[in-house]
Amino acid sequence: MINGQTPILILKEGTRREKGKGAQYNNIAAARAIADSVRSTLGPRGMDKMLVDSMGDVVITNDGVTILKEIDVEHPAAKMLVEVAKTQDEECGDGTTTAVILAGELLKKAEALIEQNVHPTVISGGYRLAATKAREALEGVAIDVAHDNREVLLDIARTSMISKSVSSSRDLLAKVAVDAVSSVAEKKDGKWVVDDDNIQIVKKQGGSMDDTQMISGIIIDKEAVHSAMPKRVENAKIALIDSALEVKKTEIDAKIEITDPTQLHAFLDEEENMLRKMVDIVKKSGANVLFCQKGIDDLAQHYLAKEKIYAVRRVKKSDMEKLAKATGAQLVTKLDDLTSKDLGTACLIEEKKIAEDRMTFVTDCKNPKAVSILIRGGTEHVVDEIDRSLNDAISVVSVAFEDGKMVTGGGSTAMEVALKLRDYAASVGGREQIAIDAFASAMEVVPVALSENAGLDPIDVLIELRQAHKAGKKYAGINVFTGKVVDMKKEKVLEPIRVGRQAISSATDAAVMILRIDDVIASKGGGGGKGPKMPPGGDEGGMD
Ligand SMILES: Nc1ncnc2c1ncn2[C@@H]1O[C@H](COP(=O)(O)OP(=O)(O)OP(=O)(O)O)[C@@H](O)[C@H]1O
Ligand SMILES: [Mg+2]
Repeated sequence: MINGQTPILILKEGTRREKGKGAQYNNIAAARAIADSVRSTLGPRGMDKMLVDSMGDVVITNDGVTILKEIDVEHPAAKMLVEVAKTQDEECGDGTTTAVILAGELLKKAEALIEQNVHPTVISGGYRLAATKAREALEGVAIDVAHDNREVLLDIARTSMISKSVSSSRDLLAKVAVDAVSSVAEKKDGKWVVDDDNIQIVKKQGGSMDDTQMISGIIIDKEAVHSAMPKRVENAKIALIDSALEVKKTEIDAKIEITDPTQLHAFLDEEENMLRKMVDIVKKSGANVLFCQKGIDDLAQHYLAKEKIYAVRRVKKSDMEKLAKATGAQLVTKLDDLTSKDLGTACLIEEKKIAEDRMTFVTDCKNPKAVSILIRGGTEHVVDEIDRSLNDAISVVSVAFEDGKMVTGGGSTAMEVALKLRDYAASVGGREQIAIDAFASAMEVVPVALSENAGLDPIDVLIELRQAHKAGKKYAGINVFTGKVVDMKKEKVLEPIRVGRQAISSATDAAVMILRIDDVIASKGGGGGKGPKMPPGGDEGGMD
């Protein structure tokens, strides 16, 4: 009661509200808990996580974004860090763990500054300046990648997979990724673009990881419609049809009255004739393989088999489009219009039995603009992790292809950026200087986490790295296997520049956004203000 008046209720009953430093600390703690939960997975010696969902399904992975997508996060600030991982994944496919750890570290350093009474807006201002400078520094240490430099592209693919459990097969998988990307890459307006939709991934449990292969063509998860059709067609001439090889049933209920047995014959003959004609059109075009998006009548199947034409029915639309890209065929809607000009080619079409299923392999296409990768592996979990790792590898190679620039890993680039930022901070002066310095220290979380996960002393490593970079060794990073500070360019630990650039941008955006919040108003059931679900420091959280 103020001055005898009744208090005015603005917020709904049950709304929780937290203001000022309390809100800030809670948000920071929640976000840091997320960062800590993935920290132990960073780098070649990082560990994996086993995640079990409410249905009991198990996922075993090292992939930052997969881990964060799987765990049910409630706190709004923690959700923002999950978003960072997702953005990183969408933009470059790799570096999700790095981006999240960096955001967590930026917030940790900010918290220390808030405690010293530096205002959050000053910190966010400083962070923004630092991020711009950091991206400049990144460009400064970048190395050009020529799109035909296969060796370097293989190194980039290998680096992205070294931390995954599939690491033992990374030479093979890197080759698969580079071959696939090089096949589908196209030059548009003088710029290379890679659309990874043109890389089809087919997973089949069984065999071993080393049976994983790229096929210069497409795999269709269907067998030939008739058992008498050839199982193998060399020099295939392929027709793609998206209408049915069936006699259309009328939409209206019509009744035909037959008074004479010959009339019945004529009627059935007519149907047969129509189907025969359809098959003749296919035959006349010169096609010996037919992919049909719709159905094929039993009788038409029989005629096709007699003509030794390999036919598959009810092929998915997306697969038809890939077939068109891979073989150069035109998708024909009206069968009558099919001519030899519409046909595509492939050296070989084969029906193969993989695991329990029969599939059609369209292989050895000339210059295919869509290709397939067949993933094999002992268990479902292995197949899934190969899929995720291969996706990372395909993404980094694509991004390197498109941007034509890369940086060195193992913490070397982070250290170089930190060094440049410290010099810059001194030139800016004022209160922002402290924030820029904090940003520089936050960048060092990359080599620190890499060393921690490798069982090395992070302080020793950091001191040695700082000295090396001060002495002008801009590629000096930590070899987590030997524990030595070495030249990462010589070690061939290479990453596309976009991974680093995006990690800095999205980590800064998330940190700044969380820092600027001083009031959390959560309606009933909303997660705000409750504090982190997981305790800060994943170690006690049961996550690690
Ligand atoms: N041989 C190596 N020696 C030292 N560091 C390495 C080596 N190979 C890779 N790294 C470093 O490991 C880090 C990448 O680790 P990891 O792949 O686990 O995480 P991420 O790429 O950030 O996230 P994710 O792959 O889960 O999306 C990079 O900083 C990279 O430079
Ligand atoms: Mg990675």
